[in-house]
Amino acid sequence: MMLAGIHASDHNPTNRPRTIVVTGATSGIGLAATTILLQRGHRVIGVGRNTAAATALADLLGNEWLTCDYTDFDSVRALAQAISNRTDHIDVLANNAGRHVPHFALTGDGYETTLQVNHLSPLLLTMHLLPLLANGEGIVEMTSSVAGRWFHDYRASDFNRQRRRYQPLAAYSDSKLLNAMVARELSSRFSRFGIFGVSFHPGLVSSQFASDDRSWLGLFYRSKLTRPWLLPPSKAAGRLVYLADGEIGKEIIPGGYYENNRLAKTSSVAYDRAVTAHAWEASLAMIGIDEDEAVAAIAAEHPRIQYPISPARAAE
Ligand SMILES: NC(=O)c1ccc[n+]([C@@H]2O[C@H](COP(=O)([O-])OP(=O)(O)OC[C@H]3O[C@@H](n4cnc5c(N)ncnc54)[C@H](OP(=O)(O)O)[C@@H]3O)[C@@H](O)[C@H]2O)c1
Repeated sequence: MMLAGIHASDHNPTNRPRTIVVTGATSGIGLAATTILLQRGHRVIGVGRNTAAATALADLLGNEWLTCDYTDFDSVRALAQAISNRTDHIDVLANNAGRHVPHFALTGDGYETTLQVNHLSPLLLTMHLLPLLANGEGIVEMTSSVAGRWFHDYRASDFNRQRRRYQPLAAYSDSKLLNAMVARELSSRFSRFGIFGVSFHPGLVSSQFASDDRSWLGLFYRSKLTRPWLLPPSKAAGRLVYLADGEIGKEIIPGGYYENNRLAKTSSVAYDRAVTAHAWEASLAMIGIDEDEAVAAIAAEHPRIQYPISPARAAE
């Protein structure tokens, strides 16, 4: 199996091995990032949707793999349990799995597929893993997109897109904007437990992204004219790794959105606290999570830690 042209010599080993969970790790950016992180000496728990691919990668890379289908909340809850069975702490959760969904479809949980796969399921996984992330400094990294700034059609009154014509790129862009909002809300709500969110745009990348859809975006990504201009997954993965390997307050400004390893701005929507707080609360309601119970679960897991532990480094 080709691993995106990555060579061990491209990356120096780290002297701070971390436990890192990477979702969407069977392909593209997630697979390239997993490879680099392993080369740097980190423990990587890879998550894929496809069991055969995950098994093949476990043989090839030698790390741990779990599977999950983000269209199904039960599968996400089972993933959180499986991760908890394997480790008592997570330093970095890289919420990278995501896709562009060409047609409107509701999942078995009743949500529009893009919303569930790209936003609700990563949030559900994150909320279940908070006690593991609170064991030191926990970074939740969201693979967002510049599409969240360029093409969003954000409507808090219609998360499920049942009150307007389904436009796949707008649905995708809204989900990626929500990724940036989640990073900001997580930082402001959970930095007192040592948990920080950050989001980034990986670049326009030549991966399996949109490879099976007939929308103009699929045509764009498959075109012989555009492919030479797309980034290789290894380059985009370097941006995920930059943050996964980063330090809070140094490479990582809590709640920040990054492009090309630099702090950048996504849509102004993500900087309106009333809007992001509403998105957060509505999203928790959709995934059936009570924030007070999530806080109690962290405190129960770490009874000896005095919170807040990082007041000086809360989100800007
Ligand atoms: N490519 C770009 O230009 C670009 C630009 C901006 C942001 N992004 C974001 O970057 C992230 C990674 O994308 P990529 O370019 O590496 O694309 P990719 O090669 O298609 O990889 C996507 C990964 O997500 C997994 N995934 C998709 N649907 C899933 C589901 N229902 N349940 C669980 N896992 C699922 C895929 O699993 P399978 O292999 O089983 O499908 C795969 O491992 C995505 O969040 C994407 O939105 C990409």
